[in-house]
Amino acid sequence: MIKLAIDLGTSVTKIYRVGVGIVLSEATCIAVTKETGEIRAFGDEAKRMLGKTAEPSEVVFPLVEGEIQNEELAGRLLSCLLKKVVSRSFFGIEALFCIPCGCTKEEREKYLRVARIAGISRVNFAESPYLVALGQDVPLSDVNPVFAVDVGAGKTSIAAFSLDGMIAGLTMNVGGNMMDIRIIDYVAETFGLKIGALTAEKLKNTVGSLLTNDYQSQIVNGRDTASGRPASLSISSADVLFPIRIYVDKIIEYAELVLKKLPAEVSATVCKSGVYFAGGVCNLAGFAEYVSDRLQMEAHIGQDAQAEVILGGGRVAGSAALLRKIAR
Ligand SMILES: Nc1ncnc2c1ncn2[C@@H]1O[C@H](COP(=O)(O)OP(=O)(O)OP(=O)(O)O)[C@@H](O)[C@H]1O
Ligand SMILES: [Mg+2]
Repeated sequence: MIKLAIDLGTSVTKIYRVGVGIVLSEATCIAVTKETGEIRAFGDEAKRMLGKTAEPSEVVFPLVEGEIQNEELAGRLLSCLLKKVVSRSFFGIEALFCIPCGCTKEEREKYLRVARIAGISRVNFAESPYLVALGQDVPLSDVNPVFAVDVGAGKTSIAAFSLDGMIAGLTMNVGGNMMDIRIIDYVAETFGLKIGALTAEKLKNTVGSLLTNDYQSQIVNGRDTASGRPASLSISSADVLFPIRIYVDKIIEYAELVLKKLPAEVSATVCKSGVYFAGGVCNLAGFAEYVSDRLQMEAHIGQDAQAEVILGGGRVAGSAALLRKIAR
């Protein structure tokens, strides 16, 4: 049987094949013809079509805020993505799905239905905070609590746990997508320039920063809200600081809530060892410094923040012992 870990993210799907490594990272996006349901494009190619298609087509992200909203399209998309990385195997596919912390029974059933559409024969689940830690090679044990946060596009999972189980955790609907929407509103209100979702995301990812002394800027193209004509403008890190920081502050607020729920001994241990972060949004300039200062503990971010969860997932998928301990 082919063993995979699959992180069906709100924005990006990552796939790890045991024995090989990360084999795919593409937008969780599919473009279909509305009337016939025929697939026009999927993955990164479909995302590039966003906002540019004519009436008969639609570009869909089947997950919204970390939850599967359109099972049928999620399944068909996953099927297309799997075909890119594994040739049909007689022995079938066993997949470990990386899921948000506290994922309900109903949400897990949605994953099972999506997996069935995609032709996956056996499914396991692991909650993302465990995978953040494993992706950064943090040694896990029954007695050593770890505090980890996954900040994705649609949601943020925060948890303290040991190999013995979850101690406290939550998932909130805050992530990079909310920052993008806030940037769109902010640029329209402040500069009278209407920009698209892809432009806002690119702006966040290139000049977005939590450092108050960051002076990068980028030219963006959009539509002048007064005249309706195409227009461009230079937007700086300082311009997008506020729409980004309000959501990072929300994440910190909820991380503090989780910390407050911890028994004293656990709290003391995690404050000493620090917090492990992963997810694409942690690539923001100054992220580690900002959260570490606010939470008053060291913030560890791996080399490739966006890949840590799937790397952790790959480790679990390839280890019978970890599957027994972590997969539920
Ligand atoms: N350099 C960067 N600076 C800021 N944000 C970034 C950067 N690179 C990627 N991102 C953002 O990270 C998010 C994608 O990260 P990730 O792949 O971890 O999310 P996901 O797994 O798809 O979503 P979720 O876990 O919420 O379902 C997007 O919002 C993307 O714009
Ligand atoms: Mg994710």
